[in-house]
Amino acid sequence: MHSILFPALLIGVVPSVSTHGHIVDPSARMPGNAMEAQEMQIAQGQSDFNAAKCELTLCKGYQFADNTANVQSFTAGQVVNLKAVVTAPHTGTMNVSVVDTTQNAVIGDPLIYFPVYASDAAPIPPNSTAFSVTMPDVSSQCGTAGVCALQWHWNAADVNQTY
Ligand SMILES: *[C@@H]1O[C@H](CO)[C@@H](O)[C@H](O)[C@H]1NC(C)=O
Ligand SMILES: *[C@@H]1O[C@H](CO)[C@@H](O)[C@H](O)[C@H]1NC(C)=O
Repeated sequence: MHSILFPALLIGVVPSVSTHGHIVDPSARMPGNAMEAQEMQIAQGQSDFNAAKCELTLCKGYQFADNTANVQSFTAGQVVNLKAVVTAPHTGTMNVSVVDTTQNAVIGDPLIYFPVYASDAAPIPPNSTAFSVTMPDVSSQCGTAGVCALQWHWNAADVNQTY
């Protein structure tokens, strides 16, 4: 048994503040006071964006302190169903991985990978918004709430944005 803080969408390199997609189930990390306290403005274009303080590539800068109510516990081998919404398609790649938030490093291999995701040239297939992953045994790394996150990473290179 180990706990993983389920993060939300992830990176916003040059995102508009309104998101183009996010995970709705399980409950994901959200912004909050701790994020604000670290001056984690989501958009680099904002005048008060502070690149040194804002780790956009890690759960979009969303903080564990704002999300202690969103900690999920998964067991090795558990199949976790995820639901995402994609409100603004941008062709990219997607993967869901367990990340060590203390290192901002992926643990092991991605649990699922879509070489083409949220294409704006075709209807979005059902498996892009409802899919499942099987949890690896990360009990040695992820026993403490907040250390690990299940990260949904959608990289739309053609528009230079990640979510
Ligand atoms: C998978 O997502 C991670 C972030 O969680 C990212 O660093 C990595 O580049 C992605 N890998 C692929 C193959 O897209
Ligand atoms: C998603 O479904 C499409 C067919 O609609 C299939 O080609 C693709 O491999 C599926 N992707 C994953 C990651 O299951």
